[in-house]
Amino acid sequence: MAALRTVPAAEVRLGMFIHGFEGSWWEHPFWRTRFLLTETEDLQKLRAFRGGVIIDVARSQATASDGDTPAIAVRDGNEADAPATWSAARAKRPLPESPAARFSADQAEAAALVAGALDTVRGTFDDVRLGRAVAHEKVAALVDDIAGQLDRNASALLRVLQLKSKHQYTYLHSVAVCTLMVNLARHLAMDEEAVRTLGLAGLLHDVGKVAIPDAVLDKPGRLSAEEFALVRTHPEEGVALLREDGAMPALAVEVCLHHHERWDGNGYPHGLKADDISLPARMGAICDVYDALTSHRAYKRAWLPAQALGAMWSWDGHFDRELLFQFMRSINLYPPGMLVRLASDRLALVLENGERATRTRLLVFHSFAEGAALPPRTLVLSAGTADDKVVGFVRPEEAPSAIPALDLYPPVAVTN
Ligand SMILES: [Fe+2]
Ligand SMILES: [Fe+2]
Repeated sequence: MAALRTVPAAEVRLGMFIHGFEGSWWEHPFWRTRFLLTETEDLQKLRAFRGGVIIDVARSQATASDGDTPAIAVRDGNEADAPATWSAARAKRPLPESPAARFSADQAEAAALVAGALDTVRGTFDDVRLGRAVAHEKVAALVDDIAGQLDRNASALLRVLQLKSKHQYTYLHSVAVCTLMVNLARHLAMDEEAVRTLGLAGLLHDVGKVAIPDAVLDKPGRLSAEEFALVRTHPEEGVALLREDGAMPALAVEVCLHHHERWDGNGYPHGLKADDISLPARMGAICDVYDALTSHRAYKRAWLPAQALGAMWSWDGHFDRELLFQFMRSINLYPPGMLVRLASDRLALVLENGERATRTRLLVFHSFAEGAALPPRTLVLSAGTADDKVVGFVRPEEAPSAIPALDLYPPVAVTN
């Protein structure tokens, strides 16, 4: 029988059996939740987590004290050979002697931290939230690349570190946007250098939020005009920070400055319109909003991915519509009710899937080749192996046949 107790992450020790994490699954540092904590590296990752960790005392190889302080000693560990606790390991590490040495220790810590967060994101690629048809091996290699790049770019790394210590949500959001940017850039067949730099841009797009008070960043409900004006300074604040480093790629600065511009010119800070907004900034805008909508916050529940895409698709003038469609293709997810053109030259309506569905379910109802309506027939597209695929979208007013009613085709539970 599980004997569960919750301890702060700072008090977790090797030998504890991790049962779960408080709060949203997205915010904790591991892909899996239930496991025996044996690796110092995992312990290190876990230390970066700010919430409570649920321990299964019965399955732990460590004993819990009965007092209020959950001091848990490793029962079977050989403390002479291996550091039983993170604090012990820390204590054994010599203190950096010079500012340079201290800086490099900070850098190593930040690199580990970013790698850990990216690892978390890598693990979530099976989930609908970040798409379903992403090639794991490619993402894994890229994530290592970005971590390596940060390792060489001290300034970028320190910015990420500042963000991490300032505001946990913004940090995790930045890591998610980094991953979505990489995935979209790959989908758009950009070269590897551009893909890496866009990943870095995603990671740094909100660094300017270090200048905004947490009370404003975390405020539930509507912001006052003054608070909103303050939030709107974050792109320019970010640019000022990034420009301190002469080696910062211009593209990262560009995404930071213009990720809140809107296609119709109603964005900020410059009110740029349509093609005047650079492609990287337009990509940033889409990845940014998608992640924000699908994230869980203290004051709002996460939207389902298809629900978020449906809302984004319906906001006229907000995004580059063609690019938003490419984004959907990059995560292989489309909102119910959208009309899509298939490689087989047919028109289909996107149907709802079950919440955990992993394949796109469509209703094919028109053939462009024959110029005629077809008897509606459902089609499930499996990523990679499908004999058909989505190649374009059609506006409802341009549909050549009557669009079948969506509610006649209720969602089905697809389990894999
Ligand atoms: Fe932002
Ligand atoms: Fe953002």
